[in-house]
Amino acid sequence: MEPLAGPSERAPLIEIRAVSRRYVRGVDEVHALERVSLAIPAGRFVAFMGPSGSGKSTLMNLVSGIDRPSEGEVIVAGQSLGELTEDELADWRARHVGLIFQFFNLIPVLTAIENVALPLLLTDMPKAERLRRAETALRVVGLEDRLHHLPRTLSGGEQQRVAIARAIVTDPDLIVADEPTGDLDARNAEAILELLRSLKNDFGKTIIMVTHDPRALRFVDEAFHLDKGILLEGEEARRADQAVQLAAGGGLINVAGGGR
Ligand SMILES: Nc1ncnc2c1ncn2[C@@H]1O[C@H](COP(=O)(O)OP(=O)(O)OP(=O)(O)O)[C@@H](O)[C@H]1O
Ligand SMILES: [Mg+2]
Repeated sequence: MEPLAGPSERAPLIEIRAVSRRYVRGVDEVHALERVSLAIPAGRFVAFMGPSGSGKSTLMNLVSGIDRPSEGEVIVAGQSLGELTEDELADWRARHVGLIFQFFNLIPVLTAIENVALPLLLTDMPKAERLRRAETALRVVGLEDRLHHLPRTLSGGEQQRVAIARAIVTDPDLIVADEPTGDLDARNAEAILELLRSLKNDFGKTIIMVTHDPRALRFVDEAFHLDKGILLEGEEARRADQAVQLAAGGGLINVAGGGR
């Protein structure tokens, strides 16, 4: 797939400016995010971490244009997402964002290559070209010998690779993954983290990953920590990083900045 061949110059810089997201639940208002601001340079692999309910998925959904903030602004590659209509936003998402989920979300009656080719149905590409690109994406994730397998005949790790191939087949600038290793054993989880990092290193992708997995710290450039809808900063963020490192069992020495 030619568009994957080399670091992308047009990858986005993501800016989240004073973003809040509140949900009304009965008479209560849930403050899922409160005035979160952060910036992610192009070509970085970052993690959103924090306890359950801290707002990680909410933030991820705002960055990928699945949801809109109650207040504040989300800007991706110079485009303020709030300025787009619903149709424009859907179109923007199809062209710029690749999504990866915890439970793979593959269509059970379609083969690996058919699943991967699905997002290209939204383009006017001829079928032969769609299948050619899907095959290339499956080669990138190391599954060129599983093209015609149905999802149920693949291991969990392989199914997640198919889902990653589906996320990159449109050559998006931004890959967004919500708990991509949540349903995998340790060995497969590390392989998936490795693969995501290689998409950054080899193809210049910007990757945002929501995760509880302390091992993720070894693979990402930076972790953002959320707690009760608030982004931790300064000393608080440093302490949260250390707590995750300790949870990973790696001690404090070999983690920050190491091996990335
Ligand atoms: N559609 C919704 N309606 C009402 N409240 C919601 C909705 N979506 C999320 N929330 C609330 O917003 C808060 C943040 O939720 P979010 O899903 O972002 O958390 P999370 O950090 O992803 O948690 P987890 O690790 O469990 O996935 C939670 O209190 C949640 O109950
Ligand atoms: Mg979540």
